[in-house]
Amino acid sequence: MKTLTRKIFKLVLFLLATSVSSISLASGSTSEIKDPIAHGEQAHKTHCYKCHTDEVYTRENRFVKSIDALSKQVARCKEGNDIPWFDEDADAVVQFLNKKYYRF
Ligand code: HEC
Repeated sequence: MKTLTRKIFKLVLFLLATSVSSISLASGSTSEIKDPIAHGEQAHKTHCYKCHTDEVYTRENRFVKSIDALSKQVARCKEGNDIPWFDEDADAVVQFLNKKYYRF
C-alpha cells in the first residue's frame, strides 16, 4: 500500500513538472514575434486605414522626422482608436513603417 501511494505521488509530481514546462514553452513562443516587419505590415493593414492612407507617410510636409517621433505618433494614433495592440505590436508597426517609408 505504501509503495502504491509513493508511486502515485511520483506520478503526480511528474505530471506537474511536465505540464509546467510545456506551459512556459508555449507562452515563450507566442510572446515572441518572429518577423516584426511582416507582423507590423499585417497589423497596420488591419487597423490603420480607417482615417488615412499610406500617403500621410510620404507626403511633402510629413511631420514625423525621427524614429522617436514615429513611435510616438504610432502610439498616439493607436490610443485614440482603441486598437488592441501590445507594445510588441506597436513596435512591429513602427519597424514596418520605418523600413517601408521613413528610413531613419
Ligand atoms: C481616427 C483616425 C486615425 C486612425 C485610425 C489612425 N490615424 Fe494616423 N493619423 C491621423 C491623423 C488625423 C493624422 C495627422 C494627419 C495630418 O496632420 O495631416 C495622422 C498621422 C499619422 C502619422 C504621421 C504622418 C506624418 O506626417 O509623418 C503616422 C505615422 C500615423 N498617423 C500612423 C498611424 C498608424 C500606425 C495607425 C494605426 C495604428 C494610424 N495612424 C491610425 C488619424 C488616424
